[in-house]
Amino acid sequence: MNTVLVITDDEARRKVIEAQLLNHDLKLVAAGSLERGLAVVEEGHASLVLAVLPLAGTSAVGALRAIHARDPRLPVVVLTAAASTEEAIETTKAGAFDYLLLPLEERELLTAVGHGFEAGRLMRSPVSLDQESETWSGDALIGRSRPMQEIYKAIGRVAPTDSTVLIRGESGTGKELVARAIYQHSARAARPFVVVNCVAIPETLLESELFGYERGAFTGAVGARIGKVKQADGGTLFLDEIGDMPLAIQAKLLRLLEDRSIEPIGGRRPIAVDARIIAATNRDLEAAIDEGRFRKDLFYRLSVVPITLPPLRERLDDLPLLCDYFLRRLTTELGIRNPGLTPDAYRLLASHPWAGNVRELANAMEQSLIFSRGRQIDAEAVGALVLTPSRGRAAALAAGDEALRRWVHQSLAFGREGLLPAITEHVSERVIREVLAITAGNRVRAARLLGISRPTLLARIKKYGLE
Ligand SMILES: Nc1ncnc2c1ncn2[C@@H]1O[C@H](COP(=O)(O)OP(=O)(O)OP(=O)(O)O)[C@@H](O)[C@H]1O
Ligand SMILES: [Mg+2]
Repeated sequence: MNTVLVITDDEARRKVIEAQLLNHDLKLVAAGSLERGLAVVEEGHASLVLAVLPLAGTSAVGALRAIHARDPRLPVVVLTAAASTEEAIETTKAGAFDYLLLPLEERELLTAVGHGFEAGRLMRSPVSLDQESETWSGDALIGRSRPMQEIYKAIGRVAPTDSTVLIRGESGTGKELVARAIYQHSARAARPFVVVNCVAIPETLLESELFGYERGAFTGAVGARIGKVKQADGGTLFLDEIGDMPLAIQAKLLRLLEDRSIEPIGGRRPIAVDARIIAATNRDLEAAIDEGRFRKDLFYRLSVVPITLPPLRERLDDLPLLCDYFLRRLTTELGIRNPGLTPDAYRLLASHPWAGNVRELANAMEQSLIFSRGRQIDAEAVGALVLTPSRGRAAALAAGDEALRRWVHQSLAFGREGLLPAITEHVSERVIREVLAITAGNRVRAARLLGISRPTLLARIKKYGLE
């Protein structure tokens, strides 16, 4: 029979866990301290450990290391009431089987325990035990919601490996942050992190940028040039917006993933490259494959480990934490007091669709801070940008510009004509639809906000079928 070792110095929590695990065809052993738990581990009787944090005299990672020093293949599930991003990453990276937030429902606990038993059985490779302890530098990845907990765990699991990672998610969900987190927590952290944005560079340039060229490869190629891929040798190559990579270059990338080698433009023999690849995209790659714009074989090679970031609207639990984080950052930068948000403001924020996700929220916090002029940020201050985007205009327009630029290039690439009328109609419909949603269908107000006459608005509503 499988034995669960519960390590906790919290009497009440132990009782809850024991009650949940009772009558489930497993044996329970409780230890009131890490030392006692370690003694049980040494006897070799445990099939799985539930370590409840905080535990006097140790951290999650400390406890994990102590347990794994005695039995590196023992699945350890860390349970904690006070989860932190860094701890979730560090713990899974240090080899925790799972990291879960208390309180847990019985079913969730049983599932975790069941999976743990199974993993313990199946475990072939030893749990990686990273001895280095790093401190977080730069930006923080904020969020304690369930979906984000899963992201932290995924980062912890994948970081120490050399696996190719594909990060997916809508614009502004933090893909770049996640790529950096994986890199920073990897064994290659001291080696280069080379970023190539595949959408910002024209095709011919992108090829030489990535793979380099030999002397005389083409007219104007005076000397030879090392590409970014080779620059990332021994390190990590982050291919951002990979969904926009032209097909010809996708073929060369596939070769890199398959053979670990590249051929510079005009080169005669392949060059070996040892680079860990992390790719990101906000594109629907499955659709791109169907449309022949993305290679299926490359997709499979890339998505060895997929990580999909949730849109902000699916983790609204994190809204207060994120708002506070951005306000603290901004006010510290400006050297002013953090005015905080009223409950009304939160409610309004929670009702916003956040198409631009965390990036949009960061901009919104900056704008409402300016608007509130030192007073607590209320619904009015927030509404000023959530409802009428004039204050967030610069940011919105910048994002819009980029989207338009892509759209123009892609439409032309597909031989489309009549661009201006098409996009004008589209924009007009989008804006009207949005404003009507905001005014809850009030057409007088909508016409005023839009700056058009009521008859014009009514005509548009009819045309777009927005009744
Ligand atoms: N979980 C998070 N915690 C804190 N900041 C975040 C988080 N997610 C995103 N951000 C911030 O939001 C902004 C956008 O994040 P990032 O650039 O990583 O998004 P992205 O997914 O790469 O978007 P895009 O597809 O538009 O490139 C950045 O300023 C980033 O610091
Ligand atoms: Mg990005």
